[in-house]
Amino acid sequence: MAKREVKAAGPLKGEVRVPGDKSLSHRALLFPSLAEGTSKVTGLQGGLDVRATRDCLTKLGVLFREEAGALYIEGRGIGGLSEPEEILDCANSGTTMRLMSGVLAGHPFLSVLTGDEHLIKRPMARVLDPLREMGALALGRREDTLAPLVFRGGSLRSLTWESPVASAQVKSAILLAGLHARGVTWVAEPKPTRDHTERMLGGMGAEVFYEEGNRVGIKGGGKLSPIEMAVPGDPSSAAFWAGAALMVPGSEITVKNICLNEGRTGFFSLLKRMGAEVEVNATHTAAGEPVGDVRVRYSALEAIEVLPEEVPAAIDEFPVFGAVAALARGETIIRGAEELRFKESDRIEALAGELRKAGIKVETFEDGMAITGGAKLTPATFASHGDHRLAMSMAVLSLAIPGGGAIEGAEAASVSYPEFWDTLAALSTN
Ligand code: S3P
Repeated sequence: MAKREVKAAGPLKGEVRVPGDKSLSHRALLFPSLAEGTSKVTGLQGGLDVRATRDCLTKLGVLFREEAGALYIEGRGIGGLSEPEEILDCANSGTTMRLMSGVLAGHPFLSVLTGDEHLIKRPMARVLDPLREMGALALGRREDTLAPLVFRGGSLRSLTWESPVASAQVKSAILLAGLHARGVTWVAEPKPTRDHTERMLGGMGAEVFYEEGNRVGIKGGGKLSPIEMAVPGDPSSAAFWAGAALMVPGSEITVKNICLNEGRTGFFSLLKRMGAEVEVNATHTAAGEPVGDVRVRYSALEAIEVLPEEVPAAIDEFPVFGAVAALARGETIIRGAEELRFKESDRIEALAGELRKAGIKVETFEDGMAITGGAKLTPATFASHGDHRLAMSMAVLSLAIPGGGAIEGAEAASVSYPEFWDTLAALSTN
């Protein structure tokens, strides 16, 4: 296990580019695989999660060709993937497993999905249940709730599904299965979540319908056109630098060219509400998504209450938000965030435990936590819990600790951001 020591030598200053957006990168591999013709994608994220999606697709017969910094993907058409000879390994990636489930449910062959020790503990009934309703054989360990998962699908019927959880992965799995079904498949979600799937599939020629009450529908039986796409930077990776700028007085960091889809920018809005100096500038559109820069200057912060409806657009940013809340004056309360318990780690208990190591007072609830800011921070050795975002968030917090901190299991960052430690070192020496 790799251990990293992090200590701020002074203010962090500079301009940063982050890797391609993880959510868009998965989709930019998967959706072109279902198109008629060759797609060209640049700016894909190079982390292990996205690699897992590509490896699964290769085993399903998709051909990828790299040339001059671009990836060319030969589409197989909707329902045109081949039976894999091996088990498909989704590694640590929930997005790979859940989106792939929707596609495999549309194919008549046998397929098996598995993942690492963390992924096989994450809830999968939320995806298997609707896919079974559509007519697929969809099985899992522990009474169809956990991976490994087994599919034999094809001949799907359309479905109207009220998802009990606000999850873009669940919505995407059902919409992808819907592409393989006859008629229009509808998904309703309790709160709006990131809409990359419906945007991108719509851009590729799928008929997508929107209705009030967070309802989205997709018409099956059609075809997808290939795309040419430049994946913008990941706002969830940018969040670490926004957080870092708030750790050390005098810091100012600009992150260039990130996806500014409003289903993804909730963290920056929360920072503004806390009194942080944050500028978000949309400059252009790429891949059907608003794209631009975010600049954050060190500021004094006030505690806030995060409301349940603010949670989905910041869902991946709560670990770094925890570090920020530790510096705010007063008690920051997060509610309606029970989904955090089902991420790469239980991000309520794991985050609380790590923050406490630095002397921060944290109370946990079933659906959130209360973090009391302003305590004197003490040097600590943090554990990543095998969770990439927790590893990077504790590195950010370490910048604010006099004497610094250390992160055990720091290699977890490679799941979404292999360059994180190099960029941290570069910003620290500017
Ligand atoms: C993702 C959706 C979110 C997010 C995950 C990526 C996606 O998960 O936490 O990192 O790409 O659709 P849920 O949809 O399960 O909340």
